[in-house]
Formats: sequence, C-alpha cells, structure tokens
Amino acid sequence: MYDYEKLHLETLRAHLAECTVLLKRSGNFPLAQPGKIAAYGSGVRKTVKGGTGSGEVNSRFFVNVEQGLTDAGFEITTKAWLDAYEEVCAQKKVEFSAQLKAEAKEKHQNAIMYSMGKAMPEPEYELPLEGEGDTAIYVLARNSGEGNDRTPTKGDIMLTDTEKRDILVLNEKYANFMLVINAGGAVDLSEVSEVKDILVLSQLGVETGAALADILLGKQNPSGKLSTTWSAWSDYFPMDDFGSHNDTRYHEGVYVGYRYFDSVGKKALFPFGYGLSYTEFTISDVQAKAEGPIVTVTATVTNTGNFPGKEVVQVYVSAPQGKLDKPYQDLAGFAKTNTLQPGEAQTIEVVFNMTDLASYDEACAAYILEKGNYIVRVGNSSVDTQAAALASIRETVTVRQVRNTCGKPDFTDWKPEVPVSSQVSADIPVLALDGQALMVEAPQYDPEYEIDPFVEILSDEQLAYLNIGECSSTFSVIGQASKQVAGAAGETSNILLQEGFPAMVMADGPAGLRLSRQFYRDAKGAHGIGQAGLPESMLEMLPSFVQWVLKTMGGGDKVPKNAKVEEQYATAIPIGTALAQSWNVDFAKACGDIVGDEMERFGVHLWLAPALNIHRSLLCGRNFEYFSEDPLISGRIAAAITNGVQAHPGCGTTIKHYCANNQEYNRYGNNSQASERAMREIYLKGFGICVKESQPKALMTSYNLLNGKHTAERRDLSDDVLRCEYGFKGIIMTDWVVGNGIMNSKEDIHPAVKPQLVAAAGGDLFMPGCKADHKNMMEGLKSGSLTRKQLLINASRIYRMAKELTGK
Ligand code: BGC
Repeated sequence: MYDYEKLHLETLRAHLAECTVLLKRSGNFPLAQPGKIAAYGSGVRKTVKGGTGSGEVNSRFFVNVEQGLTDAGFEITTKAWLDAYEEVCAQKKVEFSAQLKAEAKEKHQNAIMYSMGKAMPEPEYELPLEGEGDTAIYVLARNSGEGNDRTPTKGDIMLTDTEKRDILVLNEKYANFMLVINAGGAVDLSEVSEVKDILVLSQLGVETGAALADILLGKQNPSGKLSTTWSAWSDYFPMDDFGSHNDTRYHEGVYVGYRYFDSVGKKALFPFGYGLSYTEFTISDVQAKAEGPIVTVTATVTNTGNFPGKEVVQVYVSAPQGKLDKPYQDLAGFAKTNTLQPGEAQTIEVVFNMTDLASYDEACAAYILEKGNYIVRVGNSSVDTQAAALASIRETVTVRQVRNTCGKPDFTDWKPEVPVSSQVSADIPVLALDGQALMVEAPQYDPEYEIDPFVEILSDEQLAYLNIGECSSTFSVIGQASKQVAGAAGETSNILLQEGFPAMVMADGPAGLRLSRQFYRDAKGAHGIGQAGLPESMLEMLPSFVQWVLKTMGGGDKVPKNAKVEEQYATAIPIGTALAQSWNVDFAKACGDIVGDEMERFGVHLWLAPALNIHRSLLCGRNFEYFSEDPLISGRIAAAITNGVQAHPGCGTTIKHYCANNQEYNRYGNNSQASERAMREIYLKGFGICVKESQPKALMTSYNLLNGKHTAERRDLSDDVLRCEYGFKGIIMTDWVVGNGIMNSKEDIHPAVKPQLVAAAGGDLFMPGCKADHKNMMEGLKSGSLTRKQLLINASRIYRMAKELTGK
C-alpha cells in the first residue's frame, strides 16, 4: 500500500462508526474483549462495501465482516454455516443469471441495460444455527444500484422467511445478540423489532468489516442518526405509480419522509434523526435568539453515561398553517458535538436563517413566510424535541419574488385532511422577527453571458465539438470514455488541445473515485487492465459472452509487451447515505479531501459526485448514493464534501442528478410530475444550499423529464433557478447519454433527449459524446433550434473552467 492509501484509511477508520446508527440497545454491547462469535447472515462473507453501478469504487482491497472480526481477534464459530450459505448462493446465482438472460431475450432488451442494477434476491434455505459461544451477530445485507429499483418484497425491503426465522431464534438462543444491517437503505424491521440490539452498519467502503469489529469491541461508539425514516413498508405514503414506465406522479407534494409521518401523526418504527449510543446524553440550557433573519440556538450537551461519545443537536421548526398547508415540522439546522468523555459537557450552537424556511407560493411565484408563530424545537431526533422558542412574524412576508420554472403536473398535491396541531406551553420565549429583515433581493433573470475572445473565432463545427464530450467513437462508451485517465467516465473535447483549449477529465463517484486499478499507456491514451469499464458487480451479472465483448471493448486483460503497467488505487469511502447519517459536516469534508487528493494524483479534474437526489421512496435503486429524505442535510453534506474536494487546486465536484431523478426504472424516458412547490421546497432545495455554501465547479442534469420536458433541455432549471436564483458559476453537463439507441424502448411515450436542445437551453456539455451527437448539433444550427451565440456562451464557460482546472 502507498502511504497516501494508509493515511486515507486511517482518517476514515477513526470516523466510520459515526456513520452507523444504533437502533436498539440492551446494554450487552460493547463486548469486553474479542472471543468466540457466531456470525450468521448474508453480510458476513458477502459484505457489501457500497452499492453497484457507476458509484462502485475499485479499491485495492476490501475488509468484509468475516475478515474484520478475525483481524480483531474474534474466533468465528460458524465457518460451516458460512460455507454452506456460499454454496446456496452460488447455486442461486447460476439460476438468476440464466433467468436474467432469458428475460432480456424475451423482452427484446439489451442484456446490459436489462440486468444493470438488478440485485439477486436473497434465497430461502434451512441451515443449522449451531455456532458456539455466548455471542452472535446476524449481518443482513442488501445490495442495489443504478438501472433498477428495489422492491417491497421478501429478500429486499422485507425480510425473507429464513432471515426472520433465524434472527428470532438467535435473539433467544445467545446471551448477546446483535442484528447488523449492511444495507444502503431501509429494510422493514417490523417483524424482528423485538431484537434487543440492532445496528445499521450501512456500507462504509474499504473497511466496513473492521468498523463493525471496532463497534462490537467499543473501540468506536456509533453516533449516527437516521437521515431517512425507517418503518414498516405499509407505513409510508402509498406511491402507487412508483416504477411506472412513462409518468411518475409525486402526489405527496412536500410531504416526503418525516414530513408525512409527522403531519399525519404516524409513529415510525425508527424516525428521522433517531439514533442511540453506547452512552447517554442530556440536552439542557436551550436558548434561542434572533438577529434579523438569523436564529441562533444554543444548548448544552452532557454525556451522562459511561462511555465517550458524540451527540447531534437537531433543530426543527413548525410553521403556522395559513394560506398554504405546512408539514408538521422541517429540519432547520443541526450540529454535532466533539467526542465527550463521561461527565463532560459542551455548548453547541445551531444557526439558521428564517428565510430558508419560507414556503413556496406558486400563485404568486414567491417564497413567503406566513404570519404567525414558528415553533423552534430542539432535540436529538425528530420525535424527541422540546419547544425552545416561538419565532413570531406579524404580517405575511414575501421573502423572495421569483419565477415559476418547473412546469405543471396533471394533479394537485395531496395534503393532510386535518394537520396535526402543535401545543406549546405559555411560558415559552417569543422572538419577534422584523418583516423587513426577512426580504431577500429578487434575482436578476436573463443576464448577458460573457463570450470569450478565444472561442469567438471558432467555426460552428468546432463549437459543436466543444459542446459535447470527447468524441472518441461512433457510439458513446458507458462509464469509461476518457482517453487520458483509465477507467474515468469521460472527458471534454480534445480537438483544440494544441491551440490551447485544454480537456477536463471526469471520473465517477460518489463513494470514492472510480478508476481502473491498473493501466498502461500507448499513443491512443490510457487503457485499463482487467476490467471492462463497467463496475465489477455489473459485469458479474452479465452473461459470459457479453462480459467477453465488453472486456474486449473497454480494456481487456492483454497488456502489450513492453508496456509499463501503472497503478491508481482509489479509496472507497462510505456511501452517501452513510455520510449523511454521520450528521458530521467536518467528516464529510474530510472525505472530500481524500477524494481531492486522489484526483490530484491521478489527473482527474471533475469528480462526478456528490449525488443529492432525495430519498422520495425507499424503492429508488440509487438511494444509497444519495443522502437523505431531507434537503437541508443533503445540501449541507454535499457542500462539505465539495469544499473538501475543491480545496485541492484543479479539482472540482459535479453535483448530480439535477433534478427529480428519484426512480431508476426507465430513468432515460420517465417523466417526473411534481408541483412547483414540491420541487422548490424539497427536490431543488439541496442543490441550492450546496451551490450557495460551496460553489461546485460543475453540475450534472438528470436523465428523466420533469413535467413533460427533459431536465437537461429546461432553460428554466439551468438558467433561471440554478444560475440566476442560486448563483451557480460552474458548468452544466448531461448525465451519460449513450447514443446508440439502446436507451429507449418501444413503450416510451416521451421523446429522447436531444443534444441540440440541451445546448440551446444553456447546457454546456452533452456527455459522454459521440459522432451522432455532433451531427445533431449541426442540424440544430441549421434548423435554427440552436444558435451560434448559445454555443459560444456554452463553449466560453467550458473554456474558462478547463483553463482554471487544468492550469494550462
Ligand atoms: C450515471 C451517472 C454517472 C455516469 C457516468 C450514468 O449512468 O447515471 O451518475 O456519473 O453514468 O458514469
């Protein structure tokens, strides 16, 4: 291992337990010392380090739970069970691959696209539970990924009969038993909720197994809090058309996640913001003050237990009902303590701006704060708070006048029939807010964008090339379209390198930097060795013939004689959801720093991460890459990561997928239908926070449509909201549109995205780029759907960014 790898792993290891959430605690853990341990469940040997797809990182090695426990000195007494389980799975996998192949054939679908992200369901089996010792764990793993969604069935969201039976037996059989969840998203635990110790380990990257050993032995104390509600599947808002082919309607409006549960008075099994610790904390001396629009809450957190640990102070605000219906509460701010020793106390400050809590009134295209009392609640989970103050607004304030930008769905949003009302005691302090101080300047729309003299003299042909990714082939190649860096997802045009227009290299994330581990160079560029460009898990799913074709296309095992083999090992960091569960912006920034350091080493300019779509439904196959059901935590964690990456010269993030990309099924042709209010208060908001707090260098649009038009083709989203309202200064690129027709199916009713319309809407780069894209751009110019002026504007933005990031 190189020194940088060791250093990065060390930084992560010290914080991994912060990303884990202790859901139940009996007091039996941590263990005094390692000893015999009976370890069962799919995740012991087949531990998942992060989901599948473009976010899968090719780290040098990976520590599964079996390895992690062994390294920590445990003696695993269930080797026979683990071997037998492996056999069951191997058999099941053969059947599963055959089934996928047959299904793809029957549906006349491309095998890669069809099997992408399809996780093998957990098998049912009967294996004796005979491991020796007083202590047992059951590691329940779930995997998912890009291209397909999860299902509310046994073996995915629900437990299989086998899992349920075995977990309940083990809970009785062993003196110390912990259920450990190695999943990227929620699992319905309602049928095993009697288990006394439950830990959400999540998927923590390289040292996932080592982190569990640290927690079992009390070397680390879990201090994560859920960033998404975990409950019985039947408790969630019923989203009947989730996964429909053409249109997905966001009927629930702003009532996403805890906003729904709280507003209808439904108690979740494990609510948003919830998480225990090996120790206990009290929050006292809560005070709030207001200065202009800024509310500052202070509170003293004391560790009253017997173990060092960290606590998260969370502030929620309940807005008054008025012209607009309001969710019971919104997260307004949060802060995490340092490690507090038993008996130690820390005073924590949580600061937020009241204007960020404004509701969106579509009728007047404005953010408003309605008159009344806003209850400021402080606590350590969304359901465990005390009212600390009333922020009072005398007259309704128009906070910011904007434009409606998102189009219209064909329904009106659901709202609770009778909103849950809030009671507060009479002696609660009142903070009178000055209406004037709550007004924010209206944005300046339709600015004149600057055209750089360097690009002004270029031909239309050249400009069209610069507006798409490096056109290395007739067809775009998924995932590995960069010439300069092996395994990187793409790069900008090389056509004017000699003339002084540098190319930027982009590589995937979000759970680290996705590159080929080994490569060689020749005159054509860098070639990855041993991989097909596709993530391993995706490759594994494919029939062997397809694997062979891909390996030949995207970088095979054959290394030419005399070629120098070089290495580029990247560190797999915790998945997005796990990072959000830490509620620790400093740790998120440290993760960004790790990625930035590796980008500098390997010559990557733009990282295609972080990803901050909202956990609208548990079913989205990419939720693990995303942070939360809440836009504030999403935006703040994304900003912290960006600040970490961008502290490295020449490195930028690409926040994605803008926007309303909350379903994987038919992601290229699905139309998200959502109200302007839901878009602005939930789905766009995190992007705005991230832009304002960290100014990411780039942004990636989503594949899907929004209210009938591709997000990438919407000038209202790119110019009006992103550039003019949020103040974004970076470049906008599309998600990877593979231009050989395999992305569309006969059932699609919505048109495919078009490069010339993307460019016309102010989208700077159509990625990854192929000859057909160039042809379409030129046709756009000819037909007038795209102007030379717009190409000049886009190319100027790319030119300036390429100069800045490459330093050339
Ligand atoms: C994914 C993006 C990714 C891109 C490049 C797409 O399939 O949706 O998140 O960055 O591929 O690999």
